[in-house]
Amino acid sequence: MSYVRYSGSRLKKCKNPPVNWRRKNQNLSLSSDLPPKGERFITMLIQKAFSVSRALSTSRYLSSLLSIQMHTANLPKSPYFSFYSNNHCNFLKSKPLSIYLPSVSFPYCTSSLSLGKSSGKGGLPIAALLEIGGVKIAKDDVVKESDPTNNVPDSIFAKLGMQLHRRANHPLGILKKTIHDYFDTNFPGKFEKFDDLCPIVTVKQNFDDVLVPPDHVSRSYNDTYYVNSDTVLRCHTSAHQAELFRNGHTHFLVTGDVYRRDSIDSTHYPVFHQMEGVRVFSPEEWSGSGMDGTAYAAAELKKSLEGLAKHLFGDVEMRWVDTYFPFTNPSYELEIFFQGKWLEVLGCGVTEQAILRASGRTDIVAWAFGLGLERLAMVLFDIPDIRLFWSTDERFTSQFSEGKLGVKFKSFSKFPPCYKDMSFWINDGFTENNLCEIVRGIAGDLVEEVTLIDNFTNKKGMTSHCYRITYRSMERSLTDDEINELQVKVREDVQNKLKVVLR
Ligand code: DAH
Repeated sequence: MSYVRYSGSRLKKCKNPPVNWRRKNQNLSLSSDLPPKGERFITMLIQKAFSVSRALSTSRYLSSLLSIQMHTANLPKSPYFSFYSNNHCNFLKSKPLSIYLPSVSFPYCTSSLSLGKSSGKGGLPIAALLEIGGVKIAKDDVVKESDPTNNVPDSIFAKLGMQLHRRANHPLGILKKTIHDYFDTNFPGKFEKFDDLCPIVTVKQNFDDVLVPPDHVSRSYNDTYYVNSDTVLRCHTSAHQAELFRNGHTHFLVTGDVYRRDSIDSTHYPVFHQMEGVRVFSPEEWSGSGMDGTAYAAAELKKSLEGLAKHLFGDVEMRWVDTYFPFTNPSYELEIFFQGKWLEVLGCGVTEQAILRASGRTDIVAWAFGLGLERLAMVLFDIPDIRLFWSTDERFTSQFSEGKLGVKFKSFSKFPPCYKDMSFWINDGFTENNLCEIVRGIAGDLVEEVTLIDNFTNKKGMTSHCYRITYRSMERSLTDDEINELQVKVREDVQNKLKVVLR
């Protein structure tokens, strides 16, 4: 099984990640006797040094390494760290790490789901710019240029609190409501809805609580936005599962914005929206069925989700595909045959007992599912480009209204694309996600796609990449001057921040 680029669920296929290169002379030996959270911090520093777009200068990088060596020099045993990279991910392979730095926690969101409350603890910034679910968030809390454990750019902060899924006339809001209606009709009064939980969560909530392995690719700096070594922008709505179990909820739907570093094309955007559904069963519910709890939950899951797919897509052909997720066992994907091809609708499964046990419940079973709202809305509303969801152009927004699922979007016009190619010699820390972050930081939603169109290694072992950047506005024609100006800035920043050599 390999790490496969996958718009909905990056959290599944993850064994034997493809490896393009490996630099043996950068291996670091570290001791497992570090304070429990220390290894994570070191990982952060190293990944940051190698890959973050606001790359450390050579001297800062060297001093990071030096301080790591100083901290670890006298420690006896040496687990093995090395670096792996490919176009989609920086993959840190090591023995499972014990993680977390000592409480460098985000002041407003604690793991005890103070989500929804403003703690005000820690005397942090006064100028609150945002409030999400009652949590006050200032830009300085989330974007910390000088903090090597932070990789959140301004462009991502700008999306926090937008909550497209809460707009009744937005395709994502319409889809959310349609799914809510399905559960309300079939399980009257049962499912609680959460759609205002703060997207800033702890590493523990996002990964550990749902059993994501310590060395899983999704934890890397290259894939996830870290506020600090303990805190991330949630990369999936599953981040809230354990907490809600712990607080005694048994039937719930969580909708929210999720954040992932990724490359750029018409179906990928660093912020998108997911819905998580969970239902708990107690022993009385399955005892008369002749099945064990797991089989019963799996059968109920399939019935409920087939019903949901019918509710959304009509009388379509469906199939179940076995898969792997860290948090469920067994795990499945539901696919439907729609508009001539098989379309993956969602991932789901029977919740791992370890998650339930950790929440203090030993006698129950549960099913869970997760789905990407954009992915389904693009198909249901015929929306050709994921950037459109963020458009405030009336020609887009006026086409959708509450209760009208599946109204087909009419393109107001297709404006001409403009292509710009750039070639450079890459270095070992280069990743496509970092490049894309820079391009998006400069061109915003005017960039439609970034594609590797040429890749070769010369006799000296230097590797050259040529990327084609497609610029196209969804709303107007771009002028040559405007694009040239953007491209000059992109070239400058790519050279300065990624330390690559332009050709
Ligand atoms: N969290 C998964 C992802 O983002 C989606 C998912 C899959 C959620 C299966 C679930 C589940 O609750 O059971 O990739």
